[in-house]
Amino acid sequence: MLTAMMLAGFFFLLFLSADGMHSEQNCSYQDVLNHLKMTKTNELYSMTRPVKNHKRSTRVALEVLLFAILDVVEKDQKFIPYVWTVMRWHNEYISWDPNQFCGIDNVSLPAETLWKPDLTIEEMIEKDKAPATLYITMNDKGFVEYHNDLVLVSTCRMRVYKFPFDIQKCNLSFKSFTFTIKDIRLQASDNSSEATEWSRDLMRTQYEWLFINLTVTAINGTELVDQDIIVYTITMKRRSALYIVNFLVPVLFFLCLDLSSFMISDAGNEKLSFKVTVLLALTVLQLILNEILPASSNMIPLIVIYCIGIFALMLLSLVETIFVMYLMEKDAASQDKETDQDGSLREDCIKHCKANFNSCHEDVQKWTQATFIYNVSGGETPPEQVPAAKQVRMKLHFN
Ligand SMILES: *[C@@H]1O[C@H](CO)[C@@H](O)[C@H](O)[C@H]1NC(C)=O
Ligand SMILES: *[C@@H]1O[C@H](CO)[C@@H](O)[C@H](O)[C@H]1NC(C)=O
Ligand SMILES: *[C@@H]1O[C@H](CO)[C@@H](O)[C@H](O)[C@H]1NC(C)=O
Ligand SMILES: *[C@@H]1O[C@H](CO)[C@@H](O)[C@H](O)[C@H]1NC(C)=O
Ligand SMILES: *[C@@H]1O[C@H](CO)[C@@H](O)[C@H](O)[C@H]1NC(C)=O
Ligand SMILES: *[C@@H]1O[C@H](CO)[C@@H](O)[C@H](O)[C@H]1NC(C)=O
Ligand SMILES: *[C@@H]1O[C@H](CO)[C@@H](O)[C@H](O)[C@H]1NC(C)=O
Repeated sequence: MLTAMMLAGFFFLLFLSADGMHSEQNCSYQDVLNHLKMTKTNELYSMTRPVKNHKRSTRVALEVLLFAILDVVEKDQKFIPYVWTVMRWHNEYISWDPNQFCGIDNVSLPAETLWKPDLTIEEMIEKDKAPATLYITMNDKGFVEYHNDLVLVSTCRMRVYKFPFDIQKCNLSFKSFTFTIKDIRLQASDNSSEATEWSRDLMRTQYEWLFINLTVTAINGTELVDQDIIVYTITMKRRSALYIVNFLVPVLFFLCLDLSSFMISDAGNEKLSFKVTVLLALTVLQLILNEILPASSNMIPLIVIYCIGIFALMLLSLVETIFVMYLMEKDAASQDKETDQDGSLREDCIKHCKANFNSCHEDVQKWTQATFIYNVSGGETPPEQVPAAKQVRMKLHFN
C-alpha cells in the first residue's frame, strides 16, 4: 500500500515537472518572432517608419567611433577612415514579455527585416565597398540597434601650408537622406570627450597620422535646413620625422655639398659638373614633393619656399662658378699672347747669351724686373711665368 502511494506520489511529481517544462516551451527566438508575427515576407516591419502615429518623429541616436585612419591623399584631397557606427531607435510595433519566453530579452535578425534610418555622409564620394552588416538587434521594449562598419572615402579640404608639420581636420557629416526633422530627429549619443577616448582605445592602425581628437557637433534642423546634422570632426597630426629625415635634411646636405665644392680647384670642368649634378639631385627631390602636395593650395607651402630658396642659392653658386671660369678663360687667352711674346724674347736672349754672357746678364735682370712688375700689377700670379724665369736663370748659371 505504502509503496503504491509512493509510486503514485512519484508519478505526480513527474507529471508536475513535465507540466513545468511544458509551461516553458516558448524558449526559442523563433517563438518571439511568431509572437510578433514577424516573417521575411511580413513587410509591416520593413516598409515604413515604425510609429503608430505619423506625427511622432523617430529619435535616432548615433554613435560614431574611429577605428583606423587608412589613408590621407593630400593630392586628391581624399580622406579614408574606417569608422564604426551604431544607430539606435525605437520601433513601436515590437514588444514582448521576456518572462513568457524563457527570459529572452533580445533577438538578432537579418537587417533587411526591419526598417532602418537612411543615414548618409555628406562628404562621402565613393560608395562603401565593405559588405553591410547582416544583422540587426532588437530588444523586448522595441529598441533596435544597428551596427555598421564603414570604409569611408571622403573629401576633406587639406591645408598643407605647414607641411610636413601640419594638423588636418576632416569632417564627417551624418544626416538622413530623405527624411526631414518631422520624421527623424538625430542625436549624438556621446560627447566629444567620450568619442575621443573610445576611439583612442579602439584605434588599431594610424601609420602616418596621429589621431588627436574627435569632436562631435550637433546641428539641429531649423525651418530653413529641415534636417538634423551631426558633424564628427577628426583632428589628426602628421608624423613628420620621416619627412625630416628623408627630405628636409637631404636638401640641406645638398646645399652643404654645393658649398664644399668651392674647395675643388678651378682648373678643369670638374667643379662645374659637380655643381650641376647636385642641382639635378635637388630637382629630383622637388619632383617628389610635387607628387605629394596638391596643386590647389592657395598659399605656397613653406616647404616649397624652403626648396626654392635652396635651389636659388645653388643656382647662384653655379652661375658664379660659370662666371669665374669665363673670366679665367679670358685671362688665360690674354696671357697666352704675352707668354708667346716672352718666349721669343727668351730665345733671343739665350742665343744672345751664348755669344756674350756679360751683356746678356743685364738683359735678364731687366726681363725679371719686368716680370716682377707684371706680378704686382696683375695681382694674381700666372703659374707658368715664375718657373720659366727660374729655368732661364738656371740655364744661364750653367752656361
Ligand atoms: C507560447 O506562445 C504562444 C503564442 O504566442 C502562446 O499562445 C502560448 O500561451 C505561449 N505559451 C506559454 C507557456 O507562455
Ligand atoms: C542579449 O541577450 C543575451 C542573452 O540573453 C545577453 O547576453 C546580451 O547581453 C543581450 N544583449 C543586449 C544588448 O541586451
Ligand atoms: C567642419 O564642420 C564644422 C562644424 O560644422 C565647421 O565649422 C567647419 O568649417 C567644417 N570644416 C570643413 C573643412 O568643412
Ligand atoms: C561627456 O559625458 C560624460 C559622461 O556622460 C561626462 O562625464 C562629461 O562631463 C561630458 N563632457 C562634456 C565636455 O560634456
Ligand atoms: C581637438 O584638438 C584640437 C587641436 O589640438 C583643439 O583645437 C580642439 O580644441 C580639440 N577639441 C577637443 C574637443 O578637445
Ligand atoms: C538640439 O536639440 C537637442 C534636443 O533635441 C538639444 O538637447 C540641443 O541642445 C539642441 N542643440 C542646439 C545647438 O540647439
Ligand atoms: C712675382 O714673381 C716673382 C718671380 O720669382 C716671385 O718671386 C714673386 O713672389 C711674385 N710676386 C707676387 C706678388 O706674386
